[in-house]
Amino acid sequence: MCGIFGYIGGRKNSVELTIKGLQMLEYRGYDSWGIATDTEAELKVQKKVGKISEAKLEDFSTEQSQLAIGHTRWATHGGVTDVNAHPHLSGDKSVAVVHNGIIENYQEIREELGRENFISDTDTEVIPHLIAKYRNEGMSFKEAVREASKRLQGRYAIVAINHNEHQLIAARRGSPLIVGVGEHEFFLASDIPAFLEYTQDVNYLDDDEMVVLDETVEFLKIDTGEPVEKRLVNIDWKAEAADKGEYDHFMLKEIMEQKDTIHRAINQDLDQIMHIAQTIKNAKGTFLSGCGTAGKVSMTAEYFFSIIAKRHVNFAPASEFPIYHHFLRPESLLIVVSQSGETADVLEAMSAAKKKGAKVLSIVNVEGSTIARQSDYSLHLKAGPEKAVASTKAATSQLALFLLIASAMRGELQEGRRLLADVASQINDMLNPRFLDYIKEVAQAIKDQENTYIIGKAQNYPMALEAAIKIQEVSYIHAEGFAAGELKHGPIALIEKGTPCISLIANDEVKGDIINNTIELKARGAHIIGISPEKHEVFDEWIKVPDVGVASPLVNVIPVQLLAYYLGVLRGNDPDMPRNLAKSVTVK
Ligand code: M6R
Repeated sequence: MCGIFGYIGGRKNSVELTIKGLQMLEYRGYDSWGIATDTEAELKVQKKVGKISEAKLEDFSTEQSQLAIGHTRWATHGGVTDVNAHPHLSGDKSVAVVHNGIIENYQEIREELGRENFISDTDTEVIPHLIAKYRNEGMSFKEAVREASKRLQGRYAIVAINHNEHQLIAARRGSPLIVGVGEHEFFLASDIPAFLEYTQDVNYLDDDEMVVLDETVEFLKIDTGEPVEKRLVNIDWKAEAADKGEYDHFMLKEIMEQKDTIHRAINQDLDQIMHIAQTIKNAKGTFLSGCGTAGKVSMTAEYFFSIIAKRHVNFAPASEFPIYHHFLRPESLLIVVSQSGETADVLEAMSAAKKKGAKVLSIVNVEGSTIARQSDYSLHLKAGPEKAVASTKAATSQLALFLLIASAMRGELQEGRRLLADVASQINDMLNPRFLDYIKEVAQAIKDQENTYIIGKAQNYPMALEAAIKIQEVSYIHAEGFAAGELKHGPIALIEKGTPCISLIANDEVKGDIINNTIELKARGAHIIGISPEKHEVFDEWIKVPDVGVASPLVNVIPVQLLAYYLGVLRGNDPDMPRNLAKSVTVK
């Protein structure tokens, strides 16, 4: 997964626009970056290893140009080197291409075109070579891109330019690509914030489609070349929403936004929520799926459906879901959860469900994303762009929506809304400067530890797993989450004097049990951080959270997000761009 950007239009500073666009897309990949533009003499490519955020305009040759393409990479095929960075050129240097995805048949195409002609280890390099080959056979640039796209197997979003042709041509299958439509200018990007400063009007490119941009825009089907009609969509996001504003990092900004995002999530069309509640009731077998944090939210939703709606649903991580196909039938329902709406494993899960005729409901943050468009019904989180790799505000919005749906199924939609509105206002009170300072102190005390364990019970058990993901990805401290009652079956052997253990506690029917499990940890020397509405003598540190009943996962997860953030910062990591990770995982 990578970020791609393209510009064509009246402005002459396309290189500058591309750098800025790539900087907005850096969350998608930050191993290396590159830009290509067309000059009178040649296609000029500048690329190197490192983060685009660290690149300075002075480092570039910014010859005036009204067309440019760029790429920020998360390596899949080929190591992180300047040569493997995109854009890639054809052998005769007439065609440059940026690509997001994986070309599965690249070895076969390399063989056919002569292995000796390739200079990088990437799958992408075959694309400009193929386009140039078709051009040399006499095809127009458009036909050559179409023909090359037809040859590619796998997932791709590509943007190509050809020396001396004032055109940007893009094609897509499986990886996101959006056209930003300005006045006498067009943008292409993997995600909307990259061009939001210039236009809020977009066309979504669908799978197996391509677009030709010059003074006009032309959409067509890759297979047949037939034209495609597109609807212009106005995006209701403000450019500032994709900016760090007063915060040092997006992660902290997004954690703090939870003061508002839960309100936005529950502000839904209530008839639609009722319809979804009824659809779940009617389904013969409802499954929940997602990856990483979205998976842990889906797992929490299993508890919401059980506790609130008295309904059995089945969770499986999306990467494991296809194996469940034996249990799927046309009357089944799959609910998938994804912030980005582009996660490959989730798309695979959906396709397994669709093959059996089952319906798919998605809960996504990115409107118009592939998952949203490939679902039978889709609910939008309205959380605004989430840019830090660690998912925070999207997670609490997803939790809120599930709680709302479960309440609707019980016939208590309004009660559910009131509870969530109260949760949102209590989160607003909780996220005060003293609270943040205290969590920073707790982080300071444990920042040099090698291991952390988190326990939770009932609907806070998946949140313990989520807490572990947050701490792992941002601080790189080994963290593991457990069902509190499972400790005595093995994991308690890991506890030594001073091992930090976090207990996620709610004022609910399982409180006594998890307190007992926490006492068992303390007896083995653990340093106990209790996240709980009430103080208890077993806690070495107490992080007070509001008492919100069944909605406790929404408030318990926030201190852990903050703890992970401060641990990351105190250990000198970049919390927005953890090593080895990218925001949306568009590979299997
Ligand atoms: O965009 P998605 O919600 O589908 O992403 C799923 C996971 O890749 C994501 O939640 C990941 O686990 C986060 N980095 C966790 O903070």
